Amino acid sequence: MPDQPTALIMAAGHGTRMHSTLPKVLHKVCGRPMLHWVIEAARQGGAGKVVCVTRPGDGVADALPEGVVAAEQTEGEGTAAAVLAAREQLERGGTVLTLSGDHPLISWELIAELVATHTRAGAAATLLTTEQLDPSGYGRVVRAQDGSVERIVETKSTEGLSRTELSIREINLGTYAFDADALLAALDQVGEQDGERYLTGVFPILREAGDTVAIHPTTDTSSAMGVNTRAGLMEVEGVAQRQIVERHALAGVTIRAPEAVSIDVSVEIGTDSEIALGTVLRGATRIGSGCSVGPQATLMDATLEDGVSVAHSYLVDCRVAAGASVGPFAYLRPGAAIGEGAKVGTFVEVKNSEVGRGAKVPHLSYIGDAEVGDGANVAAGNITANYDGRRKHRTVIGEGVHTGVHTSFVAPVHIGAGAYTGAGSVITEDVPDGALGISRPEQKNVEGYADRVSEGHRE
Ligand code: UD1
Ligand code: MG
Repeated sequence: MPDQPTALIMAAGHGTRMHSTLPKVLHKVCGRPMLHWVIEAARQGGAGKVVCVTRPGDGVADALPEGVVAAEQTEGEGTAAAVLAAREQLERGGTVLTLSGDHPLISWELIAELVATHTRAGAAATLLTTEQLDPSGYGRVVRAQDGSVERIVETKSTEGLSRTELSIREINLGTYAFDADALLAALDQVGEQDGERYLTGVFPILREAGDTVAIHPTTDTSSAMGVNTRAGLMEVEGVAQRQIVERHALAGVTIRAPEAVSIDVSVEIGTDSEIALGTVLRGATRIGSGCSVGPQATLMDATLEDGVSVAHSYLVDCRVAAGASVGPFAYLRPGAAIGEGAKVGTFVEVKNSEVGRGAKVPHLSYIGDAEVGDGANVAAGNITANYDGRRKHRTVIGEGVHTGVHTSFVAPVHIGAGAYTGAGSVITEDVPDGALGISRPEQKNVEGYADRVSEGHRE
């Protein structure tokens, strides 16, 4: 659509107060880089083209999502220099939505409202403001007698500022809608101030030219929160986490102890699932309906179908089918696929393996590079010896197999359907269907042994 505004996100500058090798806007909030939150909000709020202003070599351009254009700021300092760096990307006659990369919680609804106000007012510029925050350090909005915007006064340094200026509570949030032509024309006339060119310098120029500068006031303080330090990041993450938990709760998920769970923004959870204390859900984790997750479960890029239960366990890049149960104290590693209604129990580790439908691995086992057939029962303490020191080999345990406790499977090895293994066996050869594989020395009883031992003590 040609009338969609272009979003211009200012994201240059390392953010030295973060004390990090990572540029500020790439620090994550609930699993997603700050800048990506802003991009997402801009797109949902109606932006067409999205342009990000970055510094050459800072790594931000490489981290942009698909379809976002990078514009390098190679000269000049300040927010006006940032916008000028993207000059070639702005559509003549269009609307430019200007946003800061360090305001991750800006809501798409607010962006859409800002653009609507701008259009309705037929303004050359519309700025987002609030009176709900501590105004220290922010640019304050100086209004003329008639209520229109006269100028913005920066207050990072309060030197030389009047009492009237410092008593203003209305702050500029650094989020604007502009008419592209008016913006570019005014920017050319903005001079330097303390070595920087301020974007806010355009407002008096536009006013002088007889253009309308409108205001969209907001009471949405989380949208207004900017990040300059890790303490600020922590605060923003706290607010984002609360929003994520609330979104799931309103969509039908029960979250016990909401302060004591951590859920990334990208996680999906079905209705009637319950998330208990100490649960951490990361990345592309997908949880179906009617699941019970936690207490103390960590899921990273894990998929649970409906009705799965997971307690006190650690799951990474794996799949668990409907009705299966995992834990307590299980470790599912990449490539683990647990079948419908199966059970992976206490102190069990599964890696790159399929555990079949209704199969059970209840206690103290390691299943690696293996296939456990439908309905098989793996007894306590079974180990697949999958690694010969150089290469990994597969173990196949057929349908309905019953293994004995402490069976070791020296891979590659195949246990036929319905077969058994004897307790304590080291299985190095294939076991045919329905057979018993047993490999342990026969038991020998030494009669009268205890008496001989006690005689020895008396001597
Ligand atoms: C700016 C506003 C201030 C407002 C505040 C809201 C100006 C002059 N002031 O101040 O009125 O209250 O935001 O948070 O605009 N950036 C670049 N290139 C640069 C400089 C900055 O891309 O050369 C980017 C930064 O990465 C940041 C954004 O522009 O995302 C804002 O810059 P910042 O220096 O943080 O401005 P503030 O002092 O916060
Ligand atoms: Mg800032």
